[in-house]
Amino acid sequence: MGPVSTDTPDNIHATATTQFLAPVRSRGGEKLVRARGLSHWFGEGELAKQVLFNIDLDIYAGETVILTGPSGSGKTTLLTLIGGLRTVQHGSLRLFGQELRGMARQELVRIRRQIGFIFQAHNLFASLTARENVRMALELDAMPRAEMDRRADTILRRLGLGHRLDYRPDALSGGQRQRVAIARALVREPRLILADEPTAALDGASGREVVTLFQELTREKGCTVIMVTHDNRVLDIADRLVTLVDGRIATNVITQESSVICDFLRHCPIFQHMTPAMLAEVAEKMFVEEFPENALIIRYGEEGDKFYLVREGSVEVLVQGRDDPQTNVVLGPGSFFGETALLTGAPRNATVRAREPVVLYSLGKPEFQQALEGSLPFKEELLRAIVARR
Ligand code: CMP
Repeated sequence: MGPVSTDTPDNIHATATTQFLAPVRSRGGEKLVRARGLSHWFGEGELAKQVLFNIDLDIYAGETVILTGPSGSGKTTLLTLIGGLRTVQHGSLRLFGQELRGMARQELVRIRRQIGFIFQAHNLFASLTARENVRMALELDAMPRAEMDRRADTILRRLGLGHRLDYRPDALSGGQRQRVAIARALVREPRLILADEPTAALDGASGREVVTLFQELTREKGCTVIMVTHDNRVLDIADRLVTLVDGRIATNVITQESSVICDFLRHCPIFQHMTPAMLAEVAEKMFVEEFPENALIIRYGEEGDKFYLVREGSVEVLVQGRDDPQTNVVLGPGSFFGETALLTGAPRNATVRAREPVVLYSLGKPEFQQALEGSLPFKEELLRAIVARR
């Protein structure tokens, strides 16, 4: 089967995004990449082989996202689609707010110029020195030669190559060559850096060093980074880890989020009595969920599966009272809901709706029960809440 040419409608995703989302620090920031229902095939007709299946992915400005997964899982295909180096066949892929699908070639070239590419085979020009290789990236801009040299030298020095400015690639080590490639990708201060296995050819120590320098520089300049790697030694630089398996997103995890959640929990009355170790354990099991205005988060009468804590925004609880058919209770940041059904096993006793766009932390039923068992004060606080809410 070949590619089908219908777009995935956006409204499928409108109710809730129930995966881990962007880190809190960058949420509200610009969405640089937005993929919806993105699929991709290699080959044509009968022989077409699907390599990406219905990918939904958002990447926010300032994030460092690592794309990982077994070889052949579609990571590089996804990276090259995002970079405008392949034609989008099916679904939607927006970069810098513009749809890449069906985009004219000239426009694609313009978009690509806002991206810094770093590839494993770093494509340095063998006949040019480190400085000249980096300067190449600036030659598209109308800039005086002295200024180009100054910028090239500054970034090479920053990457520890001040003593190698006039060396050609064959006189540099693998790690040094990769640092030249990084300097070349960063010197124009692009909004987005796409890196494909930048450490694959390097030994452990230089791989780590290259990535650490890379991370420092991209953070300084506020660049967004998408890096394909299966080098376990560098995964910790990611704000978010996206794992692809057989062309599908298997996990999309915010690696820095649990410490943010932990901080938040510490300030919530019901979690205050937990030990720091217990809090950290709970935080790790929480998901971030975003709901648009008016979304129904909990429906009256349904079975309870999750406990929620309001992180940002507010929700209203539509209580079906005996005397008054509906009473509205508004819950804001730090408040929780959805505990009753989990504690009593009864169906949801109210409907809960987003009054505005909300960010919630959710805890699945088994994890909620584990937290109850681990902390008596937590259970007591929750039971007290039920009594108070009657
Ligand atoms: P649960 O029954 O699991 O799902 C609906 C939730 O609404 C319920 O848990 C409570 O968390 C919340 N809720 C119900 N009644 C009230 C109320 N009077 N005040 C605040 N929250 C309520």
